[in-house]
Amino acid sequence: MLEICNITLTLERDGEPVALLDDVSFNVPPGHLLAIVGPSGCGKTTLMKVIAGLKEGQEGEVRWDGRNLAHEGDLHPSELGYVPQFSVAHELLTVEECIASAIALRTRQPDEDATSILISDTLTQTGLTPLADRQVKVLSGGQKRRLGLALELVTNPALLLCDEVTSGLDPKSEREITQLLFDLSRQNKNRIVINVTHSLANLSLYDSILVLHEGCVVYHGPPRALTHYFSIDQAEDVYPKLARRSAGRWSTSWSRHRDDYYAAYYLSTKKTGDEKEPELITDREPERIRLPVARTDDDDSDEQATRKKSKDEVKRTQEEDDDASHEISSDHQLPGFIAQTRELLQRRWLIFRRDMAQVWLHAAMLIGFPLLVVIFGYQGIKPLSKLPDRQDKDLSAEISMKQSHEAELLKTGGLVSGLIMFQVVLVTLMASNNAAREIAGERVILERERLGGLRPTAYLASKILFLGVLVLAQALWMGLFVEIVCHGIPGNLPWKLLLLVMASAAMTSVCLGVSAMMRSPEKATILSIYLVGFQLPLSGAVLALPKVFAPVIQPFIAAFWSWSGSLHTLRDHAPDFYEAVKKVTASNIEQPSLALFVLSLHVFIGLTFAYAGIKRSQWD
Ligand SMILES: Nc1ncnc2c1ncn2[C@@H]1O[C@H](COP(=O)(O)OP(=O)(O)OP(=O)(O)O)[C@@H](O)[C@H]1O
Ligand SMILES: [Mg+2]
Repeated sequence: MLEICNITLTLERDGEPVALLDDVSFNVPPGHLLAIVGPSGCGKTTLMKVIAGLKEGQEGEVRWDGRNLAHEGDLHPSELGYVPQFSVAHELLTVEECIASAIALRTRQPDEDATSILISDTLTQTGLTPLADRQVKVLSGGQKRRLGLALELVTNPALLLCDEVTSGLDPKSEREITQLLFDLSRQNKNRIVINVTHSLANLSLYDSILVLHEGCVVYHGPPRALTHYFSIDQAEDVYPKLARRSAGRWSTSWSRHRDDYYAAYYLSTKKTGDEKEPELITDREPERIRLPVARTDDDDSDEQATRKKSKDEVKRTQEEDDDASHEISSDHQLPGFIAQTRELLQRRWLIFRRDMAQVWLHAAMLIGFPLLVVIFGYQGIKPLSKLPDRQDKDLSAEISMKQSHEAELLKTGGLVSGLIMFQVVLVTLMASNNAAREIAGERVILERERLGGLRPTAYLASKILFLGVLVLAQALWMGLFVEIVCHGIPGNLPWKLLLLVMASAAMTSVCLGVSAMMRSPEKATILSIYLVGFQLPLSGAVLALPKVFAPVIQPFIAAFWSWSGSLHTLRDHAPDFYEAVKKVTASNIEQPSLALFVLSLHVFIGLTFAYAGIKRSQWD
């Protein structure tokens, strides 16, 4: 039994308190299909989120089998299925791959055979078998909703919450999905299925209808009693009828009659010793048992609808139920951290390989960016000439020689410093492209999977491993390619490569943090582009920062540390180049170990933000 007891949720709007849910109370017995209907904005989604534990009311309780979920712990992820209205599957995966992934992330299966059977059962149950090999991006709206349901069914949840899964569909698809929900509610006698809907078609398939109006419950009972209660000819007339009185008056009226309806239809939690099977409750004619109707001042009609639920359908599904193989599992173990990380990583690579636009973009950057750098250094860096120790007798010749030596130092110093900075900036540009959309681009999928028991640490680990490969490939290839084509840039190669990898890792982590914190991929991308765009001007490599600002700004500029640390390695390996480089830069040249430390700090801070952003719920 699900009991919603006096839930009130109030928000401040323009300084005024606005009740999104106002003292909402109702019960749903096991083996029951409930529709929550009401005009747009009346609080249906908010109520579903409260039941799912995604939002908490300021007052009231959600009780499941007598257990207060707020105090005694939420439902286990495998007990709860929440199907949001939007599509929650990766567009590039096939239907079967999506279901297999949900199984791997949410359940523990003894072996591959068990997994295959569960996939095949889930496909059959939701009517998706003919579409098993089709990619999500080509599915119709109705097929995507079936898939949304399928992803929740893999754990065989006891409470299935569906938000508008039937909206915007043609009448046939709407009927099919409502029928599917009905079948699911009958498949297991302990299961409760709740569907939020605008639509008042197919109401006869539901065991009960809850009408929400401006955050208040104004009716909850079987569909045939709905028309009786509101004194209307057909269910479609309920919205115009609601508009005739304030929500407060409807609500007061309902609170007066609620007990009669609950007693008549066995929705009360009070034990009467007269418990009936849930499918029987709708068979009771409201007028025969003299249930009251809500009266309005301007409407006295007291007609009732006589639409009958197909008893054959109920009987058929009951028979199916008797031999249903799916028992709600009492074994609620989630897969371990490693199993979830492995699944996410495999899935990420699969999606990466299928996203040809991304593959080409990565390939173009991987090949094109190092080529851009070597355009400036393909002639190689020539050894610096030395000034003769003794002075020339000819003063003008000596001045001219010193001038040309000075010019050579400036040119070579500029080239070495420029090549290193150019490499670093292009690597950070690739890094921001790697990470900016990584989390923000799949946020709704992450939210659903987190609700389904995905560990934030496993998700973060899979991102670190995936992006780590890109970071290593991009930075090492850039460093080695430029080194080989330019016949060696002076300095310590291992340190230079390490600092290039760390610049990439730092920018990738920071952009991953941005991606986790932002609500939309567009915002995350724009912010990440700004972060890269500021690297070059603020690095101090082109124009030195004023002394007052340098200590404040430089710690945040990854490109500065990678460039500066790499230049420092010239001091021991190529002192004459070090002198040349110092002539062209007024910025500090920092120890590589300090640069490594600061870049590691960037990585740490970026990943901390990423973790916090992954953990923070962003359903709204
Ligand atoms: N986080 C929020 N901040 C402010 N207002 C909110 C918030 N969430 C919901 N609301 C408001 O609460 C009301 C109920 O929203 P809800 O999404 O629950 O409506 P709904 O009945 O699901 O509507 P629809 O049928 O259009 O989906 C709306 O007026 C909405 O604007
Ligand atoms: Mg809604």
